[in-house]
Amino acid sequence: MAKTAQLLIDGKTFELPIVEGSEGERAIDISSLRKESGVITLDPGYANTGSCKSAITFIDGDEGILRYRGIAIEELAEHSTFIEVAYLLVYGHLPTQDELDAFKTSITFHTMIHEDFKRFFGAMPKDAHPMAACSASIGALATFYPDGLDPRDPQQVETSVHRLIAKFPTMAAYSYKHSIGQPFMYPRNELGYVGNFLYMLFGTPCEEYEVDPVIKKAIDLLLILHADHEQNCSASTVRIVGSAMGNLFSAISAGIQALWGPSHGGANQEVIEMLSAIRDRGLSAKEFVEKAKSGDDSARLMGFGHRVYKNFDPRMKIIRNACIDVLEKLGTQTKLLEIAMELQEIALKDDYFISRKLYPNVDFYSGVIYNAIGTPSNLFTALFALGRLPGWIAQWMELHADPQFKIGRPRQIYTGPKETPYTPIEKR
Ligand code: MLT
Repeated sequence: MAKTAQLLIDGKTFELPIVEGSEGERAIDISSLRKESGVITLDPGYANTGSCKSAITFIDGDEGILRYRGIAIEELAEHSTFIEVAYLLVYGHLPTQDELDAFKTSITFHTMIHEDFKRFFGAMPKDAHPMAACSASIGALATFYPDGLDPRDPQQVETSVHRLIAKFPTMAAYSYKHSIGQPFMYPRNELGYVGNFLYMLFGTPCEEYEVDPVIKKAIDLLLILHADHEQNCSASTVRIVGSAMGNLFSAISAGIQALWGPSHGGANQEVIEMLSAIRDRGLSAKEFVEKAKSGDDSARLMGFGHRVYKNFDPRMKIIRNACIDVLEKLGTQTKLLEIAMELQEIALKDDYFISRKLYPNVDFYSGVIYNAIGTPSNLFTALFALGRLPGWIAQWMELHADPQFKIGRPRQIYTGPKETPYTPIEKR
């Protein structure tokens, strides 16, 4: 295969190196193009542009492959736990038992947050969206831990990484408790990472809280499935903010804001709002689909298809089975879930969906599971962020370890007015 690409511009040929990855992906390295030719490339949304070389996650959108550090998502979903996957992503290999125990101990040590955070959350409006609250509180960690901000000090980075993974569940739970006027629940570390999170979300001081093993397993699986997804919008945000040499908390805070967007992580909340609208309008799934097909703006299909996976999202197959398992074990059958299953059946058979590759995606089923276990819809994306946190951290660490590290500063093609004289206000 060619090792270089030739570009002919104004009669002159420019030879550019071709880079090949470990899975055979190829890219034209254009890092010298502007200097040699005076020309740049243009790729709105960067759909055809690689921002980096990365060894963290591999996606094959045509074959429906997703691997973290080379290990297939199907194997991790079956055999691993979220905290072990977090270690795998951050440190690059599966931990030994001693490494995993030490990691869990350190995370457990950091689960509490400074008491002043109670006033921080308390100052927010009751209806503050958890993503806004989590982004603000994660960013504020930089004020509580000024000793952990140097992105090039390995010890400071390690401590900040563990603090983030440990404290995010506490912060997400606090933002939820504040929104429903219930007291914050201090972490109970003996419950484990996910069990403690469920306790802080749904426990109260008035009675013992029993962690449901079915719900715990479902949440653990959802966090694994969301843990990383190569250079998606929020991971790219974390990288570009991190490239300014700021602290890890600021980059993660920015990543949370990017994930909140309905075109990105906010899609799972949109799914439940779509299902609720179908129910509240007294429509059947079939009637809603017909409206969507006719272009009716009040009937937007959320939770279908994916910009990278062309045939199916490998996470969807795993989560669909978990969804059926959770609904059966919990015996939760609501109108919302009935509509979701009807929509699923239509999407998997109707040529309108099949021809457009509009299969139910990970957001469709995660929204259904979160709803079935009683999670409020405005917390769905915070759960996505909790899952994605180790991926963001891994991407940020890889950025700082990259020998080709530089600040992210794309160019542009200017299309505005040519030079124009200043017009005094009296002459305008
Ligand atoms: C994700 O997991 O981040 C979403 O599927 C979006 C993406 O990869 O672009």
